[in-house]
Amino acid sequence: MRVITFGTFDLLHIGHVNILKRAKELGDTLIVGVSSDALNYRKKGRYPVYNQNDRMAIVKAIRYVDEVFLEESLELKREYILKYKADILVMGSDWEGKFDHLSDICRVIYLPRTENISTSATKIKIKDHL
Ligand code: CTP
Repeated sequence: MRVITFGTFDLLHIGHVNILKRAKELGDTLIVGVSSDALNYRKKGRYPVYNQNDRMAIVKAIRYVDEVFLEESLELKREYILKYKADILVMGSDWEGKFDHLSDICRVIYLPRTENISTSATKIKIKDHL
């Protein structure tokens, strides 16, 4: 089974590791779409701390991850699932229900987020403590 998931994965933290580990356990091959710098800028009005090449290299270095690619648009999930021949789409529970329309081409599984950690919270913590 081929599993696909998506995210920014900026300032890698334990919540990222947990979701990648659990996604990998659902199949044999884990493919990760790392969102591009431009996509993040369009969505949030600022760039990630680490650029897309570094974020892709960091995610690729995780033992649970087999392939990475650049996610250039949030609206292309269907195309990416077909291109990478994914059987299962994994998303964090913050997206619960949002990708059910893709269940005609793959299984859609939402995994619970790790509590009390996020890239945004980490940035605030660093800002407040330095
Ligand atoms: N994720 C998770 N648990 C967390 C944080 C993230 O399971 N505590 C998951 C998300 O649900 C997503 C993937 O990790 O499937 C990548 O999330 P990303 O948006 O890169 O991480 P966040 O830390 O949520 O980033 P931000 O605070 O900038 O939204």
